[in-house]
Amino acid sequence: MSETAENSAGAGFSFNPSDEKFRRNPYPYFHALLAAPPPLFKSFIPVAVVARYRDVSATLRDHLHFSSVPIRRMSLPTTEIFGSAPNVVSSDPPIHTRLRRAVSADFTPRRIREMEPRIREIADELTASIAKKGDFDLMADFAIPLPVMSIAALLGIPLERHETFKQWSEALMALTSLAPGAPMPDAVRTNLVAMRDYFAEEIDKRRRESAPDLISSLVAAHEEGGTLGPGEVMQFLILLLMAGNETTSNMIGNGMLALMRHPDQALLVRREPALLPRAIEEMLRYDGPVLSIFRTATEDTEISGTAVEKGTGIFVLLAAANHDPAQFRDPDTFDILREPNDHLAFGDGVHFCLGAPLARMEAAIAFETILKRFPHLRLVENASLDYKPSFFFRGLNALPMRTE
Ligand code: HEM
Repeated sequence: MSETAENSAGAGFSFNPSDEKFRRNPYPYFHALLAAPPPLFKSFIPVAVVARYRDVSATLRDHLHFSSVPIRRMSLPTTEIFGSAPNVVSSDPPIHTRLRRAVSADFTPRRIREMEPRIREIADELTASIAKKGDFDLMADFAIPLPVMSIAALLGIPLERHETFKQWSEALMALTSLAPGAPMPDAVRTNLVAMRDYFAEEIDKRRRESAPDLISSLVAAHEEGGTLGPGEVMQFLILLLMAGNETTSNMIGNGMLALMRHPDQALLVRREPALLPRAIEEMLRYDGPVLSIFRTATEDTEISGTAVEKGTGIFVLLAAANHDPAQFRDPDTFDILREPNDHLAFGDGVHFCLGAPLARMEAAIAFETILKRFPHLRLVENASLDYKPSFFFRGLNALPMRTE
């Protein structure tokens, strides 16, 4: 997105995840956007780019004017595989309200705390394997398996399946980088069909015999309470795999990179582990895993003086808002003592991340375990870092590290 700005605010703006320089550090590209009202661009539909903190927050809180239901031409080509039941993140109230209510009880801080011992065990097992290696890749050896195994534990699925789970969530991710209308690659389709069949079987099993896990509680919400329709249980399971894995893995990777590049801040956390929750909030603000999310204008409206016609796509840049100097002092400085730190990494409004308590707990366990176990942890010098080319997610392909 660059050449076809329709108003002057967009002049010089470029958002190009296939450009390596942009991927390495997108933040300088947002400066012009943070100084002016949202620019409009002509893509296959008109698109407004919303970057300033107050504009992002106002847009996300106004679900009446800015819908989460994908435009047909932009929606994922998955209906023939998964059916057309709505999911919580791609729906508006009142459907969203019903779906969110049906699943909220499984994500309360208390329910999430019950998972803590299991996630600690997983983190301990992963760090024990790393200890045997010395040199390791934080992404492959820790940041990727930890969230996948945690979600498997939440759903009540054997942890041995976690490799397959990762493959499925990668297939879902691959869909988000397909151009609108492009055909689905065969390998992706094969994975998605296998995932659907597997979940269908697991749902069936819980119908016959309930277990103390999330799938059983979703099945009960459908069959006993009638709050989830047929197809909606499946849609929610798929969403969890997509929303919960990639984001948390990338949070751990981006956060570790920030910490290692700022040894003074790493020292602060090592000396005073009680600062870890604040450090995690700063990691989420400074280099969070979600670059952007999308909305559509439901009627003619405006955002900070920019007229937006019905049907306009709204490209909401969470990453830019988190570096807005009008909201954060020295926004490009990584400061774990930053106060207040009301970042938008988990979104805002009715769709605020349902998994935030789980993500925060996983991150706390991840950093606590790894920092404690490896007192001399460091980056491999001069390793070249490559980010995944995505409009929506920001994450490293690998992060080479050393324990000594
Ligand atoms: C650091 C990790 C994470 C980040 C940064 C993150 C970020 C986000 C964001 C920005 C949204 C709002 C999307 C929108 O408004 O369109 C969202 C929604 C959501 N997230 Fe997360 N997420 C993370 C981890 C998780 C985890 C671990 C889970 C579950 C296991 C999860 C489940 C969800 C769900 C179900 C929604 C939809 C909520 C709704 O629409 O009401 N997320 N997340």
